[in-house]
Amino acid sequence: MATKDRSQHGQRPVLSCAVMALKGGVGKSTTTLGLAGAAWERGLRTLVVDLDPQANTTAALDPGSFRYTSSDVLADARPGVAADAVVQSGWGVGLDVLPSERALEHRAVSVGQDSAQRLRVSLTGVVDTYDVVLVDCPPSLGELTRNALAAVQLALVVTEPSFFALPGAEQALGALSIVRAEANLALRAAGILVNRARPQTSEHAFRLAELRAAYGDLVLATVVPERTSVQQAQGACVPIQTWRSPGAREVADAYEDVLDSLLLRATTNLTAPLTGTEHP
Ligand SMILES: Nc1ncnc2c1ncn2[C@@H]1O[C@H](COP(=O)(O)OP(=O)(O)O)[C@@H](O)[C@H]1O
Ligand SMILES: [Mg+2]
Repeated sequence: MATKDRSQHGQRPVLSCAVMALKGGVGKSTTTLGLAGAAWERGLRTLVVDLDPQANTTAALDPGSFRYTSSDVLADARPGVAADAVVQSGWGVGLDVLPSERALEHRAVSVGQDSAQRLRVSLTGVVDTYDVVLVDCPPSLGELTRNALAAVQLALVVTEPSFFALPGAEQALGALSIVRAEANLALRAAGILVNRARPQTSEHAFRLAELRAAYGDLVLATVVPERTSVQQAQGACVPIQTWRSPGAREVADAYEDVLDSLLLRATTNLTAPLTGTEHP
């Protein structure tokens, strides 16, 4: 699929997507890992950029030792310098990671006019060797998330089906619009992904309906169910796709669907001009 898309559009990567949310604990890292596993299993060369100082995604990808991190990359910010920091993940060949560390917190402040472009510039040329690039964001809409959004074509907003889902999605989409106008005209919303769903509970069903009423098709049809196998696979530092349990299969199937819709959205982006009136 990747080869076909590339030959059609002459673009690499085929998909670059930031995974964002206002809050922590809603499943940004889980989503990044789930999508990375789905892409990797399909044989797509995948790069995960960890832009959260908590470095949970880096830990789950188990890259072993590394010398440089996204903190060093943002501090340097020369074209292509991210190549020095990218390492192979512990999951295997074809899934690489630009690791994070706590010191990345120090890069969360603006450093002047092109501050939000630091990640994009440092990834120049580096992303060309991948089919899929996923950027895991910190739980805020500040400078690090701005860097993520300036470097990708799509942004996926993750939420839980809770009381905060609606205002959280609204703020995330608002941030996306601002970065689109200021730093990345090609940026588009990939959608709102509902994670940890238990649709059989009336509260979750209500929140899901509320989100769909507000955002329509922007809310992805696929929701990711809450399953303990998610935590088990992350604790074992393996993709959910290789965890053998019915719950893991359900979650892996959900990420297959989400990856399909992201790839569709990404390739549609390349051909459909923006009207300026549609949703970001
Ligand atoms: N669908 C899910 N089912 C079960 N546990 C989940 C699910 N999604 C996330 N979790 C767990 O919730 C916690 C927070 O998720 P995480 O992806 O780290 O959130 P964030 O990156 O937004 O802070 C983690 O322990 C993770 O394993
Ligand atoms: Mg996280």
